[in-house]
Amino acid sequence: MKAVHIKDLDGPSTVAVVDVDPPSRKDDEVLIDVHAAGVSFPEVLQTRGLYQVKPELPFIPGAEVAGVVVDAPAGAPVRAGDRVAALPFLGAFAEQVACPVDATFPIPDALAFEQAAAIPFNYLTAHFALCRRGRMSAGETVLVHGAAGGVGSAVIQVAKAFGAGSVIGVVSTPEKGKVALGAGADQYLLADGFKDAVREATGGRGVDLVADTVGGDRFTDSLRCLAADGRMLVIGFTAGSIPEVKVNRLLLNNLDVIGVGWGAYAKTRPGYLRGQWTEILPKLESGALAPPIGGSYAVDDVRDALEAIESRRALGKLVLRLRG
Ligand SMILES: NC(=O)c1ccc[n+]([C@@H]2O[C@H](COP(=O)([O-])OP(=O)(O)OC[C@H]3O[C@@H](n4cnc5c(N)ncnc54)[C@H](OP(=O)(O)O)[C@@H]3O)[C@@H](O)[C@H]2O)c1
Repeated sequence: MKAVHIKDLDGPSTVAVVDVDPPSRKDDEVLIDVHAAGVSFPEVLQTRGLYQVKPELPFIPGAEVAGVVVDAPAGAPVRAGDRVAALPFLGAFAEQVACPVDATFPIPDALAFEQAAAIPFNYLTAHFALCRRGRMSAGETVLVHGAAGGVGSAVIQVAKAFGAGSVIGVVSTPEKGKVALGAGADQYLLADGFKDAVREATGGRGVDLVADTVGGDRFTDSLRCLAADGRMLVIGFTAGSIPEVKVNRLLLNNLDVIGVGWGAYAKTRPGYLRGQWTEILPKLESGALAPPIGGSYAVDDVRDALEAIESRRALGKLVLRLRG
């Protein structure tokens, strides 16, 4: 089968498309014909050996897929022929993947494979961040950094679908602002000078939650954007540097800085992912969750997709087409 290999740690330009044997499934796994796979920032980090998951070289990257079940164990909630989304966490950039039953989910008939492939990694992260770690309640105001990115656009949609009052996206360009609005943000602000703009947009009150996928020097200004009892969700560090917190800022306004480590949490709690999928499925069926796809690439063009993310050019979620 056709698959993508990371074979060295020199970045996206040396990623290769290769022919390898298809996987066989273990007793607790589902074998899936992959139609589309989501491309995310962690795969870019993996091309340089900078992600916390460091498989032995060469390996097939890719965390999430959408496709059709080829074979499943008896008693599994999906069976041959079913359309599914799945989270193998690795091995998704290939024509077939074997994925644990626990991480393979049915999708609505009307959902295109390319959209379905954009959901597991980012939307379940966003759901964990907002609903579990962030304790978001109805009517709260959410500020999202990197709002035109994969996780950022998912945070916008999950926040709205689960009852947030207003969602403000922070982006680096007006073009990305349009993507954030298209995903459902009530408004966007440019990263440059966002703190004062948030004060103005909220009548001086600030926001209840900040979802930070970017890190770096935005962090302190993000804390200054929080209303009393506000919560800052630490999701990622695409800016490259890890912020530090002066804890007196937390004491003064009763603020929380909250780590969001969804993958490690879900992997060690059997049934957690399926519970999350059960919560989001009605919102996929109603169309309340519908990922904005910013680019769909043939598998042979995988390097272009990775380079678009690395160079910050990606507008919305990027996906790879493994068939068709
Ligand atoms: N904690 C978890 O459980 C979890 C789960 C999944 C992913 N993540 C993390 O979430 C982060 C976002 O992933 P993603 O797939 O959404 O990435 P993405 O689609 O590339 O979006 C990231 C956004 O970050 C912003 N950015 C700021 N500085 C950047 C820089 N120097 N280079 C590139 N982008 C920069 C960009 O927005 P602007 O140009 O508008 O600023 C970009 O749209 C990553 O750090 C990833 O590892 C964490």
